Amino acid sequence: MSLVIASQMEEGFNSELRAHPIAPTVIGVPEERPWEAAEDADVLLVRPSAVWGRIKQSARPAVWPGRLRWVYTASAGVDFYPRWLLDAPLVTCGRGVASEEIADYVIAAIYLQSKDLEAVRARSPTQWNQTPLGRVAGSTLGIIGLGAIGTAVARRALALGMRVMAARRRHLPSLVEGVELFEDLSAVIASADHLLLALPATDATRSLIDAGLLAHAKPTAHLINVARGSVLDQGALVSALDAGRLGFATLDVTEPEPLPADHPLWRHDRVRLTPHVSSNYTAVRRVLFDKIAANLGRFLRGEAPTDIVDAAAGY
Ligand SMILES: NC(=O)c1ccc[n+]([C@@H]2O[C@H](COP(=O)([O-])OP(=O)(O)OC[C@H]3O[C@@H](n4cnc5c(N)ncnc54)[C@H](OP(=O)(O)O)[C@@H]3O)[C@@H](O)[C@H]2O)c1
Repeated sequence: MSLVIASQMEEGFNSELRAHPIAPTVIGVPEERPWEAAEDADVLLVRPSAVWGRIKQSARPAVWPGRLRWVYTASAGVDFYPRWLLDAPLVTCGRGVASEEIADYVIAAIYLQSKDLEAVRARSPTQWNQTPLGRVAGSTLGIIGLGAIGTAVARRALALGMRVMAARRRHLPSLVEGVELFEDLSAVIASADHLLLALPATDATRSLIDAGLLAHAKPTAHLINVARGSVLDQGALVSALDAGRLGFATLDVTEPEPLPADHPLWRHDRVRLTPHVSSNYTAVRRVLFDKIAANLGRFLRGEAPTDIVDAAAGY
């Protein structure tokens, strides 16, 4: 009997899945009640659609997890979904699918901050002035969360001649030679010229980067958040920027998204806000498909798929 996959992805994605060598039966899910597919499918493939946000605090439905053997989230983060979604025999995520794209975004942000060529662009002889630019080589990148994204950024930063200091949750070494690991977040924050937040949104990381930790930052430091708005105390961020205790912030994520129209982060002189675009989803769709296809093969061979979510840790 073939594997039944209930998929929340678009039809083009689903028809490609049907052509997978394992010939799965791919069915759609009820748009407003995607969890009901648990009654009919072995695998549920979900994406962060609005319905999950609406039911995020809901109790586990009686049907859950039904006959499901595996829940696959297209996103790297599992914080979009109600907690009971992780209450399934196996949960995997799209970790790493967009990390190269996001790393390019982070490097672009670092260069915009350090080498702002538009700001020194000369349009007439009177503008032929010597304005010093900042440096990338020789500067220090601090990374909080050294997973798929943090690692992809670290590789680029080391190649650019930056010093890379990082913190992660577990006592594990870095996959990248040259990254200096620290247990103490404040040590990383205190040295950083650019400080990257690349950790998941979990109970343990809610407002983790708060006023106390931001107080360790250099007044010129550039904070970059590509993780989730919830990991950063946004009020503390605005206060630090206003008081000149932090130099600049590039934010691809906020809480909520979008922010209310009157939120100070929209028009702050020292904030660059982008609308959660760093993952460049259209460009990485093929990477996501290939990852899912490879994992389906592993699953049917009885091997463990990659990117298993640790439900207790929340990522
Ligand atoms: N902007 C976007 O479009 C976008 C796209 C993809 C992902 N994201 C967000 O970025 C997050 C990271 O993505 P990823 O793919 O790099 O995930 P990942 O590979 O799972 O890496 C997460 C990293 O955070 C570390 N971490 C977890 N809790 C921590 C804590 N309390 N303190 C310090 N470090 C902690 C982990 O430590 P260990 O290595 O020790 O486990 C790991 O190194 C995702 O969870 C998601 O929320 C955003």
